[in-house]
Amino acid sequence: MAVKKILLYPDPLLLMRSAKINIFDKNLVNLSKDLIDTMYDADGVGLAAPQIGINKRIFVMDCSSENEEKDCRVVINPEIEHASEELGSYKEGCLSIPGITEEISRPKVIKVLYQDVNGVLQRDTYDDLWSICFQHELDHLNGKLFIDHLRPMKKILVKNKMKKSSKKKKQE
Ligand code: NI
Repeated sequence: MAVKKILLYPDPLLLMRSAKINIFDKNLVNLSKDLIDTMYDADGVGLAAPQIGINKRIFVMDCSSENEEKDCRVVINPEIEHASEELGSYKEGCLSIPGITEEISRPKVIKVLYQDVNGVLQRDTYDDLWSICFQHELDHLNGKLFIDHLRPMKKILVKNKMKKSSKKKKQE
């Protein structure tokens, strides 16, 4: 398919809640392929549809390590059925917020429910990086970014940094 342009914070489409997907057709297959191509092209481990300007509840992720085979999951209408009380902390980044990584803490293990590209219901348990990535991408579908998990003061600092760098880019 095609590599799409990734929207950058503070694009308003990144801050919207995305709509549930009810139609599982060729267009959805094409959208999932665009997401996969764009994610691999950008060297990301996950990418959500709003990041390419489409506010629908679909994301892709591949958290396999470099010495493993590619393992790309297409996740549609995701829900978290259960989240562990135990938290894990990880230095997260986002393709829509380039140049910024911050330590974010989230539930370590999650039980999830979603549909695949054919509309078939999938249940899974994710741990470690897969769990972090799933939660990060699900946040995107709710218009939430990883910096929204930061303490207020820290968030303001990061936002100002982003605004400055986007202004600079516009002037160039
Ligand atoms: Ni992201």
